[in-house]
Amino acid sequence: MIESESIDRRWLDAAARLATQSLGSGGKGPTVGAIVVDPQRQLMLGRAVTPPRGLSQAEPLALLEAKGLTHGRTLYVTLEPAAHYTALAPVTGTIIEAGIARVVVGALDPDREHARQGLRDLADAGIEAVFLPHEPSLRLGEGYANRVTRARPFVTMKIALSADGMVGYNRPGQPVPIGVEALRFVERERAAADAVMSGAARAEIEDNDLRVHLEGLEGRGALRVVLAGARDLDMSRDLFAAVSGVPILVVTTDARPLTLRPGIEVVALAERRGHPDLRAVLDLLAARGISRLFVEAGARLAESFIAGELVDRIHLVETGVEIGRKGVPAALLGGFADRIAAARFSEVDRRVLGEDKVRTLERV
Ligand SMILES: NC(=O)c1ccc[n+]([C@@H]2O[C@H](COP(=O)([O-])OP(=O)(O)OC[C@H]3O[C@@H](n4cnc5c(N)ncnc54)[C@H](OP(=O)(O)O)[C@@H]3O)[C@@H](O)[C@H]2O)c1
Repeated sequence: MIESESIDRRWLDAAARLATQSLGSGGKGPTVGAIVVDPQRQLMLGRAVTPPRGLSQAEPLALLEAKGLTHGRTLYVTLEPAAHYTALAPVTGTIIEAGIARVVVGALDPDREHARQGLRDLADAGIEAVFLPHEPSLRLGEGYANRVTRARPFVTMKIALSADGMVGYNRPGQPVPIGVEALRFVERERAAADAVMSGAARAEIEDNDLRVHLEGLEGRGALRVVLAGARDLDMSRDLFAAVSGVPILVVTTDARPLTLRPGIEVVALAERRGHPDLRAVLDLLAARGISRLFVEAGARLAESFIAGELVDRIHLVETGVEIGRKGVPAALLGGFADRIAAARFSEVDRRVLGEDKVRTLERV
């Protein structure tokens, strides 16, 4: 790799790192990181991330932070700047007006109709516009790209497994005991999602409120989605009863309409094998601007997502604890590892978190 390319990559890395911390706090648009650099002195003059709710964009905010020192500088941005109107004005005009000399982007606009249009507009204005394919920028934008190209959110599923392949204990239900570090990992995934989903039985059994409890990030997790089952929902559970600013959406089927207390939204969708059709659920979430969905699944919900080919990434949280005959097996037949291998998932990452291990798998 030539030196200038490795310098460009380092700045794009910094922009992607910055923006990754803001995932889950944006609006319907992509979360983008932008950095203005003085190329001679390799000095950062301004940096910004798409602000919460997407009310503005990263590029103009980074240019503003550079306080008039933008002439002849380089702008690093994780996603190609838009040359067309979205909810906001095209951002390429602002970059041109600021006198930026060079723009390096880590990912193209995922919308085929608009891809490279931003780069072209910048080049037409005499700016050196470079596309440098950059994995962290692509990962940062994978939710938005998925929604634009496949009309559904990017779905990450987490499932915790005991050493003997159980997802929890039989009644009275208890979760697989995972350690503090693995719990923090799960909470960070929640915080980085636009919506967190669980099956009703699990949410009630574990009295899991699906909120983010990390210090400073308590308001994150834009929407909590509960998939209702055959049983009535227990409204005394914290999930439903506690007052919080994080909305709840309960999804049921047309055949099983529900009326819950004010403040909890209920949507009835078509059914598939007695449950809300997951494809219809994902359509609904995408239409609401949800780009990143985090599913905390037990055995049955996991199987529904896997069988429907609706999951993009799986985090297996593996504990050393054995549960034995008191347990609920993760796979309906055989082992869970075999099930996901059959669905063409293979390991892309593995990390040790305290006593536990998290293996991350993606479809090949
Ligand atoms: N280890 C983990 O990561 C983890 C995560 C979640 C749960 N668990 C454990 O797993 C055990 C079972 O919990 P669970 O049955 O609630 O887990 P689940 O498999 O995640 O969810 C099943 C629940 O969701 C409902 N549901 C709605 N739509 C569904 C769909 N499309 N596909 C499948 N289910 C759908 C089911 O309704 P019906 O009842 O009408 O079928 C049921 O209430 C519990 O012991 C729980 O603690 C472990």
